[in-house]
Amino acid sequence: MRAMFLAGAMGLALSCSAASIASAAEVTIYCGSQSEELRLCREGAEAWAAGSGNTVRVLEAPERSDERYWRYLDRLERRDSSIDVYQIDVIWPSALAGHLLDLTPHVDPATLATHLPAIVANNTVGGELVAMPWFTDVGLLYYRADLLQKHGIPVPATYGDLAAAALRVQRAERAGGMPDLWGFVFQGNAYEGLTCNALEWIDAFGGRLLDEDGNVAINSPEAALALAQAASWVGTIAPPRVTRFVEEDARITFQLGNAVFMRNWPYAWALLNDKDSAVRDKVGVAPLPSGYAGGRRSAVLGGWQLAVSRYSRVQDEAVDLVRYLTSAAEQKRRAIEGSFAPTIAALYEDPEVLAATPFFAELRPTLAGAVARPSSPTGLRYAQVSTLFWEAAHATLSGYGSAQANLGALEDRLRLLQARGGW
Ligand code: GLC
Repeated sequence: MRAMFLAGAMGLALSCSAASIASAAEVTIYCGSQSEELRLCREGAEAWAAGSGNTVRVLEAPERSDERYWRYLDRLERRDSSIDVYQIDVIWPSALAGHLLDLTPHVDPATLATHLPAIVANNTVGGELVAMPWFTDVGLLYYRADLLQKHGIPVPATYGDLAAAALRVQRAERAGGMPDLWGFVFQGNAYEGLTCNALEWIDAFGGRLLDEDGNVAINSPEAALALAQAASWVGTIAPPRVTRFVEEDARITFQLGNAVFMRNWPYAWALLNDKDSAVRDKVGVAPLPSGYAGGRRSAVLGGWQLAVSRYSRVQDEAVDLVRYLTSAAEQKRRAIEGSFAPTIAALYEDPEVLAATPFFAELRPTLAGAVARPSSPTGLRYAQVSTLFWEAAHATLSGYGSAQANLGALEDRLRLLQARGGW
């Protein structure tokens, strides 16, 4: 009798643990690279795991967007089932769509309607929602409010004004005991970040990469003027090493107090105002300048989405993790702690979000007018188009050939690429 009872109890215990093992999944997500971004992703993912009874494995993605792309594409083309969720750039939905699960049946339409419609449209390819919006990005001008005030200089509205202000403050402050101060830092390395910066300069003068029919339009006087002007900054108001800078190099230089102006994305705000930052409470944020007085203030649209791999073996749990991380509560936490710009419109009116990151109150018009990189028309060819573009911009910044000559060669290469089967 006793033996029978024990056997029965053991059987029950065994079947319970078997059931819980069967229902708990391990979900692997590729997200974040710079420390804060990775930390916030890990915290969110672990909170989901704790609440759902699953486990989560967080993999650090390469820092540069273009390196992430090739890493992901390699995995996806091999139909690798070991990665379930990918953090994908705003420029990739059309190129990666074939590998990503359609989330339409898994997302409540009312929830989807709370996200910025342009991002939802960008993530919808052939009628399928291939990724959920997570955070948005737009190029911004960060400036040292204390130094501009000290020198009686207004926030510049044109790149010409910016260069003049940068030079003036740099010269005066170097003489006054800040030998390491530079006027302007940005993303000048040969990578996707330079594509964003260079498109902003060119668009601010009225130039563009492709026209509305998708034809190459880069070899223009506007583009040449913009790139030649940017090249003139290197070694004068920008450190020569700016041609090796990615986002974090610019952010760290600025945060150490060694730059008057910086072009960067919203995430920098939280770090610049961290309690250990040398520039805490000394920083202002404004729209990027235009090329000439009265011209358009041009900013490139960035941002990241979460997508589920078609090759995942735990799709239900992966979808659930994506729903959790892209939720209003999680986007709010990330906006407050990391100044990651939400994709949920209502959060731009949330008092706690605005208290942490006041410039979000003025971000909506900048986002609405932001310039998209030509990733939708070029699809899988975008990576090549962008590489050719940043190579021409990088050569110009580095003094290898004039802006005009480099843009002429770029036009030929892009036309050739387009001629070989179109975009
Ligand atoms: C930011 C943007 C992304 C862009 C990248 C370039 O992460 O959100 O869209 O491609 O910067 O460095």
